[in-house]
Amino acid sequence: MIGMRMIETKNYQEMSRKAAGLIGGQVLLKPDCVLGLATGSSPIGTYDLLAKGCEEGLLDFSQVRTVNLDEYCGLKAADPQSYRYFMDTHLFDRVNINKENTFLPSGTAPDMEAEAQRYEALVRSMGGADLQLLGIGHNGHIGFNEPADHFPAAVHQVQLTESTIRANSRLFDKIEDVPTTAITMGIGLIMLARKILLIAGADKRAIVEEAFYGKITPQVPASILQLHPDVTVILAKE
Ligand code: F6R
Repeated sequence: MIGMRMIETKNYQEMSRKAAGLIGGQVLLKPDCVLGLATGSSPIGTYDLLAKGCEEGLLDFSQVRTVNLDEYCGLKAADPQSYRYFMDTHLFDRVNINKENTFLPSGTAPDMEAEAQRYEALVRSMGGADLQLLGIGHNGHIGFNEPADHFPAAVHQVQLTESTIRANSRLFDKIEDVPTTAITMGIGLIMLARKILLIAGADKRAIVEEAFYGKITPQVPASILQLHPDVTVILAKE
């Protein structure tokens, strides 16, 4: 392992506190930083604490820019299931960020290949993320980079696996409503981030151990992070 720190916390709340502390620290150290952000259950507590930090005047997001990992294809920004909607409600509408500085790939662009190239170029033009927050799927996915026979480098459209559709269906009325494709950062932009912060609840212990202490393989996409020079993993014990 080149530069991995594993922090185990008592529970989800403590994981969220530590993660918010590290992200808040990044914003304090570099007020005009680029934050790479994720959606899902894992970061909700972290975003709540960042919003609180801003409300209390401890954190200032006015110069921060954000780039999100991914978006479902076919959902408009106003759709409550879209990742844009998630980010607005859980973080952006609760802090003093300029919404024009918050970026996600578009899931409704008419030409997904062109959209993938646009988003790749956009994030590269910003120099990549200073800090990239990641969750991890039970199958080892990061962003929507699913287990495969190679590591997809660039932003791309992806077919979601059965297990990811099933996992994500908890947030939809019925499984048929879960989009089957998404657009995601590839491994290239994730590895470009200066720092990686991966947060995982207790249910992810087995896949976290496989990803960080097992062999590096595209069958466990997060295992590539073993090659990143600055990774912090926060794993909740219960
Ligand atoms: C979300 C994302 C996904 C999630 C992962 C874990 O933007 O990129 O890789 O981080 O599916 O999801 P949760 O946190 O809901 O268990």
